[in-house]
Amino acid sequence: MLTFQFALSIALITSFVFVSLTILYAYDKERAKKLYIEQCSKCHRKDGRGIKGVYPPLKNSDYVQKGDKIELLRGMLFGRSGKIVVNGEVYYGVMLTEIDQKLSDEEVAMILEFVYREFNNMDIPVTAQDVVKARKLGKLPPHK
Ligand code: HEC
Repeated sequence: MLTFQFALSIALITSFVFVSLTILYAYDKERAKKLYIEQCSKCHRKDGRGIKGVYPPLKNSDYVQKGDKIELLRGMLFGRSGKIVVNGEVYYGVMLTEIDQKLSDEEVAMILEFVYREFNNMDIPVTAQDVVKARKLGKLPPHK
């Protein structure tokens, strides 16, 4: 009887820990969407389609899809410039450091995860550690 109770409490504790971790780390779509709209939509638009020839799309973007996660984060954190081809269209622009520098690593990660999931149908987790790595590497050299 005692062993049964013991097993039961272990099972309960395990599921409690599991559920709390899931709640803590679960991707929060509404929060991510809000951050995306605040930080990115004035150029890339709410629907992520951008403005042809001026602001490249993030929705169905071959650049996002074949891009490296850390490279994309560096662009978001520190800006990017130079020639870039997105879905066959050439952009020769400058994206300044537009992102709010007060955002936490977790919030920055969430924005890219939103872009992956909601605009490109890609299930790629982005973590705060990825953002730390990108911050360390610093600004991207301009594209040529
Ligand atoms: C002030 C306008 C502006 C804002 C705000 C902005 N961007 Fe950009 N973004 C640009 C421009 C312009 C380029 C193209 C830069 C170039 O020509 O090298 C670009 C390029 C990109 C690219 C690479 C090309 C592509 O479309 O796949 C990504 C990814 C990107 N931005 C993500 C973001 C994210 C995420 C945010 C919000 C955190 C954001 N941008 C905020 C203007 C902006």
